Amino acid sequence: MKYYIGIDLGTSAVKLLLLSETGTIRKAVSESYPVSYPYTGWSEQDPELWVIHTLRVMERLLDGEDRSAIYGISAAGQMHGLVLLDQMGTVLRPAILWNDSRSVAETDYLNTVIGKETLSAHTGNIAFPGFTLPKLLWVKENEPEIYARVATVLLPKDYLVYRLTGVLGSEPSDACGTLYYDVKHQCWSKQILELFDIPMSWMPPLRKSDEIVGQLLDTYCLRFGLSNHPFVTAGAGDNAGAALGSGVLEPGTCNISLGTSGTVLIPCDSYKTDPQNALHTFVHTDGACMLLGCILSAASCGQWWIEDILGTKDYVEELAFLSDKEESGVLFLPYLMGERSPHNDPNARGVFVGMSRNTSRGELTRAVYEGVTFALRDCIEVARKMNIPLTRVRLCGGGAVSQVWQQMTADILGVTVEVPMEIQGPSLGAALLAAKAGGVFPSLALATEKMATTKAVLTPNQAMASYYEEKYQRFQKLYQVLRLFFSNKS
Ligand code: XUL
Repeated sequence: MKYYIGIDLGTSAVKLLLLSETGTIRKAVSESYPVSYPYTGWSEQDPELWVIHTLRVMERLLDGEDRSAIYGISAAGQMHGLVLLDQMGTVLRPAILWNDSRSVAETDYLNTVIGKETLSAHTGNIAFPGFTLPKLLWVKENEPEIYARVATVLLPKDYLVYRLTGVLGSEPSDACGTLYYDVKHQCWSKQILELFDIPMSWMPPLRKSDEIVGQLLDTYCLRFGLSNHPFVTAGAGDNAGAALGSGVLEPGTCNISLGTSGTVLIPCDSYKTDPQNALHTFVHTDGACMLLGCILSAASCGQWWIEDILGTKDYVEELAFLSDKEESGVLFLPYLMGERSPHNDPNARGVFVGMSRNTSRGELTRAVYEGVTFALRDCIEVARKMNIPLTRVRLCGGGAVSQVWQQMTADILGVTVEVPMEIQGPSLGAALLAAKAGGVFPSLALATEKMATTKAVLTPNQAMASYYEEKYQRFQKLYQVLRLFFSNKS
């Protein structure tokens, strides 16, 4: 029996999953690591943490397993992070992560001076502070001594793959989030790089997601007793990896991830851009175009509310309030880290509105989860305006285990929601990429079809429809009313 390892290189943890060639998940092991927020709006991580924790989790994953049966490894990682290496391959500064919003000035410059039309024509996207290019320009402006030493620019999982194999590379489903990648022609954008004097030589070679980059370095094969010298594939951005793991590869389907961030991923039958570029035009693991909406705070709003504010870790007890039919007049805007899709507003912030002396703890909890789900609906509404059919919505991510949140998603989006049997997300998608490269599946479509079975189907509860519809309309208005206030221009 052959085995494949899928790595999910997340923001708060790394998770490894062991998949057999017959499609059985033998084990999944994870370990968390910190994010540092040195200033408001900054979000950084030491890339060495990714390597240290991946290797530690690898040891735990392989404990008691037949190590000679490991044939391939693949990683799906947090997108957009900026990892800078010098000529010797040494990391020059902490990675600047996807939810970092320090590059507001660079983002404004890109969208207004270079112009959204030019950016969209060359890359398929406009600038957001989380994307890689604005962050690279921030380093150029603010840390010129570091910028002068840059020889290679990598994304987080590409750095991990580099450390595991010694080979530099990237692939479309992650490169698409840099803003110096041309999504339509699937190559680094010569025009954008030239516009900013960024040498093309800083960008690693591009391969397909399921293409083999190299073999695990001998030192690790020896350390872990991996006598078959497993190969490592190029891998994927975590959202594409998660969608593959959930069975969302075909147009008409949609994957919603309820993780730290919340994402709505919609595979397309051809290259498409939303006229406002509110949804990103990205690339899936099979090379096809997809649209992605990303809200920066999803399950992290629940974590903030329940753990930091209510001071408990008892999610079951707190979320029990959600199944009470009691409605809440309170609205919550979930923009704790600013917002990406669809507003592109790094200045937006979290807000509770509509409390009275009678407002209960449960109503506020309900408002938090409703607010996050309304923000996901904002992304879905953009796709609806583009006449994109959404017939099957599937869930993944840590928040997807909550049955009350599953039902709330169906009710607020007004669609039938499926919960896959395995909501492992990116680690399963990554393992499928390795298994495909190992010849287990003839195509990614067949891989995901075999793996992505369904555990539960939730249909919208009609009794709640008018309550949610009316509340969503007010939610939308609330952001519009506060937009100028957030930007300090009111
Ligand atoms: C997607 C995005 C996030 C990160 C989180 O555009 O920024 O979903 O990939 O890991």
